Amino acid sequence: MKDVAWFFHMLGLAVWLGAILGMAVCVLGLRSRHISNDVKQVLNKLQGKLTIVGAAGALVMLISGGILLGTSGASPLWVNLMTGIGGAVIIFSLIAITLQSHFLSVRIQSGSFDDILSRQLNLLYVTSWIVMIGIIVVLGIVSARL
Ligand code: HEM
Repeated sequence: MKDVAWFFHMLGLAVWLGAILGMAVCVLGLRSRHISNDVKQVLNKLQGKLTIVGAAGALVMLISGGILLGTSGASPLWVNLMTGIGGAVIIFSLIAITLQSHFLSVRIQSGSFDDILSRQLNLLYVTSWIVMIGIIVVLGIVSARL
């Protein structure tokens, strides 16, 4: 059981991180002034799908992490830090990225390429960096076995 949960924990991590990276690249394209509206509609669909894939990966990580916690005995500091910081990053990612992605997707579909959209895109870009840095910090803690 522990091995299966560990596998899904790692699979979820790969899917989540990969999807966020892909989404950040789509957002970079959506911010560009040199890309046509047609291409932006395609990028918008892609970022919406990547958001769903990323959220699924994050959920799988959370559930498998909970199962791993249940199967392991005493928790060293690095596991407590991973659970606390990692859990917060997962929940932040699930709420902030999913909501922002939905709002800007609706705006792009209606063709409103205005100042509000560019602010929304900047915010989503910064949010995805915060999540990526959070994941890297947790990976650092896990590698160092703090
Ligand atoms: C950003 C979020 C997270 C990252 C990057 C992460 C990463 C990892 C990695 C790389 C391992 C394998 C460690 C090893 O076997 O050497 C691991 C194991 C584990 N994770 Fe996470 N994790 C995250 C979030 C969570 C959360 C939210 C929970 C709990 C709900 C959790 C619970 C566990 C447990 C219990 C283990 C097994 C520890 C052991 O071997 O005793 N993780 N995690």
